[in-house]
Amino acid sequence: MTVTAIITAAGSGRRLGHPQPKALVRLHGTPLLQHAARRLVMSGQVDDLVVTAPAGHERAFRTLVPEAIVLTGGATRQESVAAALAALHPEADVVLVHDAARPLASPELVSRVVAAVRAGHRAVVPGLPVTDTITAVDPSAEGATAALGTVPRAGLRAVQTPQGFDRAVLDAAHLAGRDSGTMATDDAGLAEALGEPVWLVPGEESAMKVTTARDLALAGLLLDEGA
Ligand code: CTP
Ligand code: MG
Repeated sequence: MTVTAIITAAGSGRRLGHPQPKALVRLHGTPLLQHAARRLVMSGQVDDLVVTAPAGHERAFRTLVPEAIVLTGGATRQESVAAALAALHPEADVVLVHDAARPLASPELVSRVVAAVRAGHRAVVPGLPVTDTITAVDPSAEGATAALGTVPRAGLRAVQTPQGFDRAVLDAAHLAGRDSGTMATDDAGLAEALGEPVWLVPGEESAMKVTTARDLALAGLLLDEGA
């Protein structure tokens, strides 16, 4: 089985608020993109790397991850993944999709996801139990609004990346998503929309997403603790 990892890194990082793209922002001196790429490679499970870069930053990204194919991403994360899929080596049969914005996802997590795909699960995501109490509301509500009911959190998981797929499933999910105009928040969502069963493996705190400056500070703490 040939495993290709797509690192989505073409976002600007508007909410992080740095002048440069988020993937280039440094955590303990190392750009988020390099943190993510290193851990994927350290798993020993990844044969090829494909990175999506914001237009105009391709050269800088190539310098940081010389072993990767670097492509220009699209206007949305979904379009960036689709662009990467279109450029995959014909032999790739397992595809991981991972956010550069999750720089500390561990090699062990990568291995867990790949092992589940190898075991025959065609769409696999890491999931972490949620600790907040979650309630439903009217999605259009603003200000004070009625709680429509607490959702028992024991049956909920927060979904992370890397997500692993049988390549044919991911290709089909993206084609169907494009043709139907479905905008999913992640690749597993597109697979689910196609009726594909999605499987979970245990996620981890260090696979947290860096969205805001506070998240970056938290990632620094996790790195201090050995992530
Ligand atoms: N991403 C991408 N192509 C896009 C948008 C996002 O490859 N057109 C990537 C980002 O680089 C990131 C991942 O998707 O690694 C998750 O997106 P997010 O955390 O939202 O990052 P940004 O879009 O960069 O941040 P923001 O939404 O705050 O601008
Ligand atoms: Mg974004």
